[in-house]
Amino acid sequence: MYYRNFLALALVAATGLASANVDLGKRQASHSEQKAIHNQGTTDPVAAAKAVLAIKNIGEQGSLWANDSLVSGDENGKQVPWASNVTFHSLPAAQVDGESWATVPDSFDSFTLNKTTKITDRKGVQLTMPFYINSKYTASNIKRAIIVWPGMWRDSWRYAAMTNNAYEIAKSMYGVEDGSVLIIAPLFLNEGDKQSGSVADDYVFFKDAGWSVGGTTHNENGTITSFAIIDKLIDYVTNTREFPNLEKVVMVGHSLGAQANQRYAVLSDRGNKPISYWFGNPGAYTWLSNKRPDSTSGCDNFDSWPNGIGNADSVSVYGRRRLKKNKDGLVQDFLNRETMIALGLTDNGGHSSSCEKNVQGANRLQKGANFILHLNDVNGGFPEQFKVNFVPRVSHQDYPMLANLDTVQYIFT
Ligand SMILES: *[C@@H]1O[C@H](CO)[C@@H](O)[C@H](O)[C@H]1NC(C)=O
Ligand SMILES: *[C@@H]1O[C@H](CO)[C@@H](O)[C@H](O)[C@H]1NC(C)=O
Ligand SMILES: *[C@@H]1O[C@H](CO)[C@@H](O)[C@H](O)[C@H]1NC(C)=O
Ligand SMILES: *[C@@H]1O[C@H](CO)[C@@H](O)[C@H](O)[C@H]1NC(C)=O
Repeated sequence: MYYRNFLALALVAATGLASANVDLGKRQASHSEQKAIHNQGTTDPVAAAKAVLAIKNIGEQGSLWANDSLVSGDENGKQVPWASNVTFHSLPAAQVDGESWATVPDSFDSFTLNKTTKITDRKGVQLTMPFYINSKYTASNIKRAIIVWPGMWRDSWRYAAMTNNAYEIAKSMYGVEDGSVLIIAPLFLNEGDKQSGSVADDYVFFKDAGWSVGGTTHNENGTITSFAIIDKLIDYVTNTREFPNLEKVVMVGHSLGAQANQRYAVLSDRGNKPISYWFGNPGAYTWLSNKRPDSTSGCDNFDSWPNGIGNADSVSVYGRRRLKKNKDGLVQDFLNRETMIALGLTDNGGHSSSCEKNVQGANRLQKGANFILHLNDVNGGFPEQFKVNFVPRVSHQDYPMLANLDTVQYIFT
């Protein structure tokens, strides 16, 4: 067991850095083309997605990413160059044990880990759902709540801190009021973390990445889903007795957190609560019909959860009944959600080992562009409430995606 900067772990695991990244440049648009795609995306997302799909070699697979990006791959923990004057809080570290967490931070900056909120399942089993929250606030000053998912490393403290750094940019560059934003990052640990010691006896925990698909807790007798935990957080912040002046909840996720967020947006039914969604660089999507851009022959489960909703029995119990009862209504609800899809134009790696994901495209950027055309197709025109943010010269880089100025404006204003 030892302390290590989280990012080094992520980079090594995600990219296998040793292999040469010589083919990355082959499927990248030039700087001026990237800028043009960005601009086009703000007014005509479908045309911009088509321009992405026309990038030479974009359909080639690749497990690597980050060539010729504005922020080099190992500088995720630093301020972005376009906000160099803005306060940056360094990211908290935690103690790793192999690929699991031996400890998680109890507090950092203005954040504390809330360890007293309980959630009870249908059978009456009660568990604690821990979450980070910037806890020094005056409730009546809170106008907006951001709920941010972790990435594949279940690193909620890092995402809380990165979102807080993006908030600093919003305050400094967009006049967003200090003390007006609540940032909440639920802790979704797994059985490996339990073994390594970071999961207290009463905490919810999940099997592998089950939290990202609306899976049920892995606790004894556990039938609570990760999506029900998000519901409970949303209920908490939208309770006018707690936060009388709250105007909006923004659900945020990057990478596996973006996948989780999109899946939640597909299945959840939060009535008319004012919620918007931001998905940055998901590695795959829950598609809304059984069409895919690539041949599905030999890939029988391509439309099963979490990559599709064609097989209702495979879907998280959280949304299964609703899906069976009214699939069209569920799809329509998703298409009506206020959403920004943000895609790094140099995030052209991330080829998956699963055919269910790869029939959506060969790499993250191509999958994202294909999904934009899919939305247009299913909706009969691009959904009015959706925005697309193609981010020039940023790759699979969490903080640069969150700190992108169009993202900051969308999330905080
Ligand atoms: C990085 O991308 C540039 C094009 O933007 C290309 O000229 C260069 O060869 C690429 N480098 C690698 C290592 O792929
Ligand atoms: C930082 O501040 C300096 C001095 O006020 C200003 O000239 C510069 O444009 C600022 N840079 C950014 C990225 O805002
Ligand atoms: C933890 O969250 C609950 C809401 O679920 C809140 O009522 C409580 O005050 C919080 N505890 C602390 C110590 O902030
Ligand atoms: C799980 O259920 C069994 C059988 O109902 C019960 O004996 C046991 O105490 C439960 N465990 C927990 C942690 O609630």
